[in-house]
Amino acid sequence: MGASVNDDLLSLLMESNFKVFCEDENSKNAGMTIDEVIEECKLFYFAGQEMTSVLLTWTMIALSMDPSWQVRAREEVLQVFGKNKPNFDGLNQLKIVTMILYEVLRLYPPAITLLPRVCQRTKLGETSLPPGVDLIMPLLLVHRDAKYWGKDANEFNPERFSGGVSKASNNSGAFFPFGWGPRICIGQSFAMIEAKMPGVTVVTRNWYDLSTNNQHPSELNNVAGKMFVTWIGTTPRVSITDPELIREILSNKSDDFEKPKSRPIAEYFISGLVNYQGKKWAKHRRIINPAFHLEKLKRMLPAFSTCCSEMISRWDGMISVEGSRELDVWPELQNLTGDVISRTAFGSSFEEGRQIFQLQLEQAELLIRAFQSISVYVPGFRFLPTKDNIRMKEIYKTVRTLLRGIIEKREKAINMGASVNDDLLSLLMESNFKVFCEDENSKNAGMTIDEVIEECKLFYFAGQETTSVLLTWTMIALSMDPSWQVRAREEVLQVFGKNKPNFDGLNQLKIVTMILYEVLRLYPPATALVRRVRQRTKLGETSLPPEVDLIMPFLLVHRDAKYWGKDANEFNPERFSGGVSKASNNSGAFFPFGWGPRICIGQSFAMIEAKMALAMILQHFSFELSPSYAHAPYTVITLQPQHGAQIILHKI
Ligand code: HEM
Repeated sequence: MGASVNDDLLSLLMESNFKVFCEDENSKNAGMTIDEVIEECKLFYFAGQEMTSVLLTWTMIALSMDPSWQVRAREEVLQVFGKNKPNFDGLNQLKIVTMILYEVLRLYPPAITLLPRVCQRTKLGETSLPPGVDLIMPLLLVHRDAKYWGKDANEFNPERFSGGVSKASNNSGAFFPFGWGPRICIGQSFAMIEAKMPGVTVVTRNWYDLSTNNQHPSELNNVAGKMFVTWIGTTPRVSITDPELIREILSNKSDDFEKPKSRPIAEYFISGLVNYQGKKWAKHRRIINPAFHLEKLKRMLPAFSTCCSEMISRWDGMISVEGSRELDVWPELQNLTGDVISRTAFGSSFEEGRQIFQLQLEQAELLIRAFQSISVYVPGFRFLPTKDNIRMKEIYKTVRTLLRGIIEKREKAINMGASVNDDLLSLLMESNFKVFCEDENSKNAGMTIDEVIEECKLFYFAGQETTSVLLTWTMIALSMDPSWQVRAREEVLQVFGKNKPNFDGLNQLKIVTMILYEVLRLYPPATALVRRVRQRTKLGETSLPPEVDLIMPFLLVHRDAKYWGKDANEFNPERFSGGVSKASNNSGAFFPFGWGPRICIGQSFAMIEAKMALAMILQHFSFELSPSYAHAPYTVITLQPQHGAQIILHKI
């Protein structure tokens, strides 16, 4: 009807859409449909409202923490506008306010990660990426990286933007709060003007300070160097990538840093040593330790060997007459390590052990499903009779009944004078019995049957998944780098020929050990450790308040070029030729099994098992990646190959 166009976004959008229709009226696809316009309007709400409001919120918090910048901003605003309403030209003159907003966008970017997906095979730097891979670009880490921003990277210092964005760091690409390239935030200028406008009004009219309830942000503001703070809801998390500080935390014997309690639903799955603290942990660790001594592990070697032989025979049987076959080796290796635990933990009760393994596997899947849904955060949800909750309870009871049966049978046999077997359960019961005898007056000496049950369940979880992913990544790495596969096979054949590997021979395998270490460095099965600060504690130069979670991301330290050199992301087992201590310029930068008193109790067990399995695989097969393999490490408790590990085996 000829009305003039308003200045609101909807009108402008419709005007522009109309122009496109007119320019190309023959094409059915020119311009947007009404439905598409509706969707764009909905997007404006989400993209425009949340982002700008958090930018303004963090700005007020930052200026409350640093009143000197609040004063400088106010002076500038009063100089430009006095007490008048801000206008467009004046907003463009605000240099200090702009510097402050940029610094807030650097430290608290409203969108902390960008996540494009590869659509078709693409080269990125030196790496060829297959389609379907998600690329994670964590703005937060780049924005706070001391390499680009200097030692004060974690500090609020708007001064760094005084020469504009391009001069704020030594790499102009290190600041991208609005994204980059053709898909850069379309509302960037809108957001900056919007943020300046109320920012100016608030700064002019009010003085603001942090509430006294809000203690953590200012206290944690002094974390610096290789530490950075993020928030999960109201819980602050300090991530630490400095090996010295990580060792300080993990070596702490005063219980200043405790393990955070797992959610109650996780108790259906496991508790035991890994979850205990203080005296209870010390008692259990003392009882369990002897079962993992090297001498005892030596006696378990036949069990390792039997399980590996069974897998090799199965693979042999699957391979066609042409002598090759594609196989997803990950589930195969999961079965292998499950069998190894069933046999080494329960010896003669191996079949019941296998049943427990299958049930625990199902329990793990149910638990992961629960953690991936919102329900786990609803208090008491686990008591509701949902299908998954009922099944979890059922599995919990069945596993306990099976374990109780095995343990009672074993107890009876020992009481009747049977000799102690070489399996983990017998060794654990023997060690437990000794502790009871040493301190028979104390009610708390030794472990109860229920506690022994929990420790047995823990062996499955802690020992099975970790070792299976180590072996899986090793086969993938050796498929990607056939020269190391050849070197490893030569060594194995030189030491054992085609005979079954024995304990002394496994100890001589230098190349195989270097390869396993390199895989543990690049693909650590546990990618991070967590501790919670129990009471105010000093860590390095930083004083940490209670209830802060400390995250120690192995993966970042294991791949940090500062310790491992320029080829930090490359597979190069040679770096371990002089042993772990000489592999990097900081011997604390490698800790796939943890560190200090809580270091993995099954470390030697896992290494012997992995060497045995790898040696036998190398004796019988050569292998290469299948074209259907997509390299996509992702974390579901452990670091796993998201799309499986499709490998082509060739009989040799
Ligand atoms: C490649 C294989 C393995 C890796 C990478 C690995 C890694 C780890 C790590 C990083 C920890 C320390 C957790 C912390 O400090 O919070 C740990 C603890 C533990 N691991 Fe392992 N592990 C492996 C194999 C095994 C095996 C085979 C077993 C047993 C059969 C086992 C049993 C345990 C137990 C019981 C703990 C708890 C120790 C404690 O809290 O005192 N692990 N493991």
